[in-house]
Order: sequence, then C-alpha cells, then structure tokens
Amino acid sequence: MPSHLVLSLLLTALLAVVQCGPGNDHAWGYDKNNGPDTWQGKCQNHLKQSPIDIRAPDVDYALLHRMHFLNYDMDGKIELSNTGRTLFAGGFESWQHKQPMIQGGGLKHRYKLVQFHLHWGQNDAVGSEHALGSLHYPAELHLVHVREGLTLKEALTRPDGLAVVGVFLARTSDPVANNFSPISEKLHELRHSGNTTELKNFRTKYVLPLDTEAFYRYEGSLTTPDCSEAVVWTVLAEPMAISSHQLHLLRQLHNKELVKSDKNYRPLQPLNGRRIQYRPSKFDRVSICSSSAAFSILVTSFTLLISLIY
Ligand SMILES: *[C@@H]1O[C@H](CO)[C@@H](O)[C@H](O)[C@H]1NC(C)=O
Ligand SMILES: [Zn+2]
Repeated sequence: MPSHLVLSLLLTALLAVVQCGPGNDHAWGYDKNNGPDTWQGKCQNHLKQSPIDIRAPDVDYALLHRMHFLNYDMDGKIELSNTGRTLFAGGFESWQHKQPMIQGGGLKHRYKLVQFHLHWGQNDAVGSEHALGSLHYPAELHLVHVREGLTLKEALTRPDGLAVVGVFLARTSDPVANNFSPISEKLHELRHSGNTTELKNFRTKYVLPLDTEAFYRYEGSLTTPDCSEAVVWTVLAEPMAISSHQLHLLRQLHNKELVKSDKNYRPLQPLNGRRIQYRPSKFDRVSICSSSAAFSILVTSFTLLISLIY
C-alpha cells in the first residue's frame, strides 16, 4: 500500500475519532473519558446550568398557585428502555387526549409530558442531581414536559420551552408504601443497554409523591448535553418512596456490555446569581398567611391611630 494512502487512512481514522469525541451526541457519558468534565459547548460556558444545590440563602418564599398535574391519573401504555445512560420511559404522545400535562404553579404556559427518566448512583449519599442543603437523595426522577404548541426542537431554543418536574427518590423500609413497583418489576428485562419493554396500564401519578404542594422553582438547563438553557425547573420538596430492593435493581442496570452503570448524575452547577423560589405546602402557607394577616392588622391599627391623632 502506498505510504500516502496509509497516511490519509490514518488521518481519516483520526478525524473520525475526533468527531466522535466528547460533545458528540454518540459519545457522551458519565465515565472518566466522556463524563461531565468533558462535555462541550453550553455545558462548559453557559451560566444558567442545572442541577443546583438548593440552599436556604438562595431561596425566596413565593405565593405561587399549586401545580396542576392533568391526566396524571389516566392509564396508558409506555415504553421503557435502558438507553445505556438512563432508564427511559416514553410513548406519552400516543395517549392523545389522555396525554399527561402540567399547568399552574406559576408556569406561564401548559406543558405536555413527553418522557421521564432517572438518575442514580451506587450508594445512598449520591444519585440525585439536585441537592437540598448539599444533601443528595439516592435517586431523582425527571418528568420532561414540552410547552404546548412547540416541537421539542423549537422548545430547546426558548428559555421556557421545557418544564421538568424533579422528584427525589428516598429509600423506605415499607415495601407497600410505594408506587414504583410497576416499573421495578420490569427492571430485570432492562438489564442491558438497548433493552426495551412495554408497560401497560401505567398511571403517571405512580411516579409522583402524594404531596405535590411544596416545590422549588428556578430557571436552568438540561442536565445532559447539549445542556440547553430551556428548562423551567420544578423540584418537588416531598420525595417519593423507593424500597431497598428496588434501589438495588436500579443499581444493577448496565450501561454497556457487562458493565454496571456506576452513576448517571451531573455534578452541581454554580447558581451564578440566580434565585430559587419556594412554594410552600398548605401548612407552611398558614404561617405565611397569618404573618401577613398580623402585618395587615398592624397597618390597620397604625392607620387608625394616625386618624385618631389628627
Ligand atoms: C437485553 O439485551 C441483551 C444484550 O443485547 C440481550 O441478550 C437480551 O436478550 C435482552 N433482553 C431482553 C429481555 O430483551
Ligand atoms: Zn434528567
């Protein structure tokens, strides 16, 4: 073989390697060589990235309406898959008039559920993407909604194109207290990257905690490449229960041939001056209402006092 041909073959191979390097959709992952540190573009140089640490000094109380989860009690068929990066559930678009949606909760639009997926780690101290006061839950579920009237591609170009609801998963010792069973019963069929299966009669409320009243809200990004800053985040304060066995099954999922997925969460990102809103639950609100009631009584009596003086 002529040497210049060998050289050009080598160059082509090199180019192919470079093009398939980190940042390319086919190559990113969570390993040392393709993990979050190597993700390119917006993931490196944008300022409104997710996930974040939700710390008290950065949180403001907000009198937002409660969030409405429409059609979350409807049942339908979903497709579950092990994508090699996450456990993915899709197929909601074909539910048509039953497609789950969210509105309210301070959202300016209505958003349709297109998929949900999970993030986890190999021990209980890590796994969730968001953190509360620097503490992580063992896993976090993301319900991804697209703004009504937009395609996913269009939504990715708008700061409020997507609304993602984050649900923390907390380990419980009570095996009947959780709704995660329909999914976990399928996990043995999803052991390997590329495995897919169907789940019939699924209700999306299975993956919500009982209390969805209290939540954190902030503007952020996708937590995977290309890290588009198109997400209105709603992180529910109440976690959902997952049993030790279910958590174990999740941790057994493989991301490649015979390799257990070690982790699939992105590290915390700087807030860069963003504020986080907290919408308290009913009970919290009583105290806010009573303190504002106390304030208005104070104002009223002050006004009365002034009018008495004059
Ligand atoms: C899962 O994927 C593995 C590897 O590709 C394959 O051998 C196995 O049959 C698949 N299992 C199911 C339930 O599809
Ligand atoms: Zn996610």
